[in-house]
Amino acid sequence: MMKDLEKVLVTEAEITEIINRVSARIEKDYKGKDLVMIGNLKGGAPFMMDLIKKINLPLIIDFIRVESYFGGTTQGELVFRKDIEVDITNKHVLIVDDIIDSSRTLKMVIDLFKKRNASSIEVCTLLDKPSGRVIDYTPKYIGTTIGNEFVVGYGLDYDEKYRNLPVIGVLKEEVYKK
Ligand code: IMP
Ligand code: MG
Repeated sequence: MMKDLEKVLVTEAEITEIINRVSARIEKDYKGKDLVMIGNLKGGAPFMMDLIKKINLPLIIDFIRVESYFGGTTQGELVFRKDIEVDITNKHVLIVDDIIDSSRTLKMVIDLFKKRNASSIEVCTLLDKPSGRVIDYTPKYIGTTIGNEFVVGYGLDYDEKYRNLPVIGVLKEEVYKK
């Protein structure tokens, strides 16, 4: 698995630093508020699970599953596979994602949650790829910003693989050509 990486962009130590920094901010910002953290499956799951353990607040978690990529790196249509099960009316919603690229996926999720009368809706992303934006959006909580590269690991996949890598990296070109 690791041998398929051309280079490592975010190390395990850097991921830990991101989790500590972001969780401290979330804990401070949401103290005394009804917080519902909503993970975007599958990519956002590892980040969400590590993050919640560091937030000392009585929060609720749920998950959503929206697909925007089908097979490899080709962008496809947006499809809702799984909706949340909790009521977010008058709750403070924080969407946790692996990466914000075009922002199209996110826009659809935010619009849906707005209709359900959440008190606030913010986004926490492990990675931000501003060069890929189609819809203008700046997430409130960003782990780190990357360039116009396709990355895998720590939740991020290529054809459903590499999500279990402990680091985030760029795949070797030969992997795409297989
Ligand atoms: P977007 O912001 O609507 O373009 O969608 C973001 C989603 O696309 C993420 O949740 C990922 O599943 C996927 N994605 C975007 N960039 C990458 C990447 O570099 N590696 C792996 N998945 C990516
Ligand atoms: Mg994906």
